[in-house]
Amino acid sequence: MRRCIGAGFSLMEAVAVLREVLVAHDVEAHGREQPRVRNITSVPRHGARTVVR
Ligand code: HEM
Repeated sequence: MRRCIGAGFSLMEAVAVLREVLVAHDVEAHGREQPRVRNITSVPRHGARTVVR
């Protein structure tokens, strides 16, 4: 079985980047989002529209 050796590192990087974005900007949801149910998962119907200031 193959596995990505960078998975843990990438997740740690993503958290660090998300933290910087949230600290530097005002982030809020753009209206109420309805889910769109797929086979097993559900996704935001309109792509999780977000207002970033
Ligand atoms: C968001 C970032 C990343 C994504 C989406 C990703 C995705 C993947 C995927 C899909 C595979 C193939 C796994 C398979 O064959 O089943 C893989 C393998 C691999 N990844 Fe990543 N990866 C990421 C970041 C990294 C980083 C940062 C490194 C190195 C520092 C890395 C090193 C590797 C290596 C060496 C393999 C080959 C493993 C093997 O030979 O079996 N990846 N990655």
